[in-house]
Amino acid sequence: MNYKKKNFYIEGVSAEKISKNYGTPTYCYSFNKIKNNINSFKKYFESIKPLICFSVKSNNNLYILKIISKLGLGADVVSQGELMKALKAGINSKKIVFSGVGKTMEELKYAIKKNILLINAESESEINQIEKIAIKLNKNVNIGLRLNPNTDAMTIKKISTGRKQDKFGLTKNNFLSLVKKCKKSKFLNLKCLSVHIGSQITSHTPYSNMLKVISDVIKKSKFNFEYVDLGGGMGIKYTKSSKSLDYKKYNKSIKKFLQKNKTKIIFEPGRSIIGNAGWIISKVIYIKKTNNKNFVILDAAMNDLLRPALYGSTHNIIPSIKKTKYIYKNHEFVGPICESTDKFLDLKNFQSLNEKDLVVICDVGAYGMVLSSNYNLRTKPAEILINKSSVKVISKREKLNNIV
Ligand code: LLP
Repeated sequence: MNYKKKNFYIEGVSAEKISKNYGTPTYCYSFNKIKNNINSFKKYFESIKPLICFSVKSNNNLYILKIISKLGLGADVVSQGELMKALKAGINSKKIVFSGVGKTMEELKYAIKKNILLINAESESEINQIEKIAIKLNKNVNIGLRLNPNTDAMTIKKISTGRKQDKFGLTKNNFLSLVKKCKKSKFLNLKCLSVHIGSQITSHTPYSNMLKVISDVIKKSKFNFEYVDLGGGMGIKYTKSSKSLDYKKYNKSIKKFLQKNKTKIIFEPGRSIIGNAGWIISKVIYIKKTNNKNFVILDAAMNDLLRPALYGSTHNIIPSIKKTKYIYKNHEFVGPICESTDKFLDLKNFQSLNEKDLVVICDVGAYGMVLSSNYNLRTKPAEILINKSSVKVISKREKLNNIV
């Protein structure tokens, strides 16, 4: 993740070597960055000893999940597929929580049979469905109820999940009446209050507001929750000027919350664990010069990395070999897909660039490969994992013949 003698390296491997040996575009992950992110996350919340369940939706590569499992984390899953993969990676079922507004009967049955830690339910209909299955299987099911705290996460609107207009979670009143229902049921074992107010959150204020709402609801429910699952959402720094979350302040508000509420905390982080541990190495196919800008046409496109097209999000682009000569003209980095939204970034100037040069798209570890597609009938890229100077292909590049 550094320049050595002007060459970009991920751990001990240069972008040039990656391109030569594995082709482009290629997703590259750093094992040691993932490990450091997990250790830092644990350290931030050391005093509250939370259960950390990695949000599989952010990156579901089996090898990445195996690393996460070995480092002691659990998993937050939102489909049977994610649950199956988390188990396949060796994650203990007693460390798995299942969220989502539309779990089907088959998915619920599978999760119940696998004895996972919690099914976080989001509606009365879902609770009824779970109870039906539990009765049929004659099994007690550990339940979480997801509260919609009506809290603005102050993030991109498209990834906000905790306001009353969002489809997620239960209103206070519905939450309280479902607590009563669970208490009466022989098969529903209510253990947890869960929330998740959004993603890429960079201010601790929404979290503090959310904790106040939770405190109030717990008091009204007169119920002792063994767990409070605070979800994920911790934001990362995508650009030099952007803010990142103040973990100390977040931790402080949780400690304050725990003084009044004796419970175990669960987190469901995705982006903060894997976001800045991934890069795409991409090659310049053509440079199209116009009067007012240079279009830099890359071999990576919105089918490889959808975030800029979908959310208008920024991923920095840097050269693989640093040069001293700069071109002071607008550079628009785009992909080859036939959509104007297939655009990664505008940069006011960039170092002198030639066709076939390599560039590095940064911070793509979370919501990168998982959102990739075959749009325009393009193959999905390869994924590699780098640990010092060793490289492992953790997902092969698709072959055109297999998708045509
Ligand atoms: N828990 C639940 C219930 C969630 O819905 C999510 C993310 C997480 C945990 C993990 O959040 P994180 O720590 O990664 O922020 N595709 C979007 C992000 C969507 C997030 C959806 N839910 C993006 O590319 O920014």
